[in-house]
Amino acid sequence: MSNSHLDKSFVEIFGETPDVIAGAPGRVNLIGEHIDYSDGFVLPFAIADRTYAAVRKRSDRILRIASMQRHNNVVTVNLNDVSPNLKGQWERYVLGVIWGMQIPHGIDVLIDGHVPLGAGLSSSAALECSVATALNDLFSYGFNLEQLARLTQKAENEYVGVPCGIMDQSVSLMAQRGSALLLDCRDLTTKNVEFDVASSGLELLIIDTQAHHSLTDGGYAERRASCDSVVKKLGIRSMRELTIAQLETSKELITVTEYFRAKHAVTEIARVLKAVEVIERKDFAELGQLLNASHASLRDDYDVSCPELNVAVDASISAGALGARMVGGGFGGSAIALIKASHSHETIKKIETSFTQNSFKAPRFFTSLPSQGAEIIQRGL
Ligand code: GLA
Repeated sequence: MSNSHLDKSFVEIFGETPDVIAGAPGRVNLIGEHIDYSDGFVLPFAIADRTYAAVRKRSDRILRIASMQRHNNVVTVNLNDVSPNLKGQWERYVLGVIWGMQIPHGIDVLIDGHVPLGAGLSSSAALECSVATALNDLFSYGFNLEQLARLTQKAENEYVGVPCGIMDQSVSLMAQRGSALLLDCRDLTTKNVEFDVASSGLELLIIDTQAHHSLTDGGYAERRASCDSVVKKLGIRSMRELTIAQLETSKELITVTEYFRAKHAVTEIARVLKAVEVIERKDFAELGQLLNASHASLRDDYDVSCPELNVAVDASISAGALGARMVGGGFGGSAIALIKASHSHETIKKIETSFTQNSFKAPRFFTSLPSQGAEIIQRGL
């Protein structure tokens, strides 16, 4: 594999060839939403779209960072000045990883990103993981995938200031082609769950609602805070330890809102484990039911959906989808629908019509098979 396009632009911008190029994918999450920060189980897979980072070592302490999607403009920073207080834009995701890895000297970095931005498909995790994978190789750190996942999550939490969980970075690093990744967010142990819907004549349609999606708007942090509050009030270590029976008998100890947030967490963890079971026996009708139940829980109990996501889900179901749900943080972004491949065109039309009727911005559609996690795709001579 190589990325000659990126290689060539790197030479044009920085005057020399890169030492290493790494690529890391975005993700969709089949099921297990808003439970990664509650020590739950999640079942995402890596999409084919990825972000590439080409990097070259410098002998001084200068960092030069550019992106092919930002007209190759070069941002220059001294390594000594890298700190979460340093203002900036998209390059903060790259600097966060550099900060987290404490690299010993300067580098030139060129990014080529192909994960749709703001679509809830984890373009930021793809960016962080491509940079981390390249630097791990370049400086021979020898971090394993679990360490890289924790490091990139820390970069996003503490440097960029986005309070995300561990799911997106983990799947971008650890995914295996052809499988969804069952990730235990408590200890980052994984199991690859073969996810082959095509041989059953099905397809996973990804619907980008084009509605606003930002984890920094407060809704995400508020959900995390509710979970933390429940955990504290009930004297447990995480939602992972809670059962529905225990939740019902502890109702008077928590607020009504906290009860519904906790109900989502507990039921969603159970749905993930059930989903693994049904995927393993290729019972995709049952998987569809679990997707629907997950969406209802996110919409009604966790309250992170939005009109665009609900319309995308409802239109998919009325077009005959086996199941559909919002994915990612919510408040916009994407939904997924498990559909008969032969119904793809019809489903898309139905969703488009519903969006027009509701005066929503036109949605975008993707589909992807489960792809490989982060990889080194080229090393200099
Ligand atoms: C975002 C976060 C993840 C996860 C999801 C919701 O994508 O980055 O850590 O919490 O929302 O499941």
